[in-house]
Amino acid sequence: MKFFIDSADVAAIRELNDLGMVDGVTTNPSLILKSGRDIVEVTKEICDMVSGPVSAEVVATEAKEMIREGLKLARIAKNIAIKVPLTWDGLTACKAFASEGHKVNVTLCFSAAQAILAAKAGASFISPFIGRLDDIHLDGTDLIADIRTIYDNYGYRTEILAASIRSVNHVIECAKIGADVVTAPPAVIKAMASHPLTDRGLDQFLADWARTGQKIV
Ligand code: G3P
Repeated sequence: MKFFIDSADVAAIRELNDLGMVDGVTTNPSLILKSGRDIVEVTKEICDMVSGPVSAEVVATEAKEMIREGLKLARIAKNIAIKVPLTWDGLTACKAFASEGHKVNVTLCFSAAQAILAAKAGASFISPFIGRLDDIHLDGTDLIADIRTIYDNYGYRTEILAASIRSVNHVIECAKIGADVVTAPPAVIKAMASHPLTDRGLDQFLADWARTGQKIV
């Protein structure tokens, strides 16, 4: 399973990238706002650091303008994946970008029907938002499973990029279902290392070690 980092925080991405945890990065307008950085500058910095795809999102809502914005974003670096919303205009732009060989991440996917259209429009990635479905009391991981089944039934090559990941459990459920990628905030990736029994076991080992009176170096 690939890990993308859902963030525009360069320092946080670097920390995980240095550990080999980063297969790509996803950004969106809200994450750019949170970073306080200029979209072109921060995206370029991330693209220079990470060798995998870095999603940068258009903000136009009409296909022609989306295409103009997307081509500008694609000029930032070779590893840009142009991110478009799952609207009819977004699908139109997706098809245009894919036909020219650009990677496209179709975002804000909340149904299997939408995911089928994205695959047919040539998306490299479909981004179903798990957490936001959970927020309205639907099971986001059910959507990941449905898309996995459908894409496998027909051999669609679009990668399932599970997004709006809020917890370690989301990551594990997506891995069990077979999502190709999860994009998670750095805090969720780091939380994967934690387990209370690890902490308790380590405390015990350190206490016993102190009682031996020994030193390793
Ligand atoms: O990748 C999409 C993601 O950033 C949305 O996450 O937590 O705002 O629903 P969230």
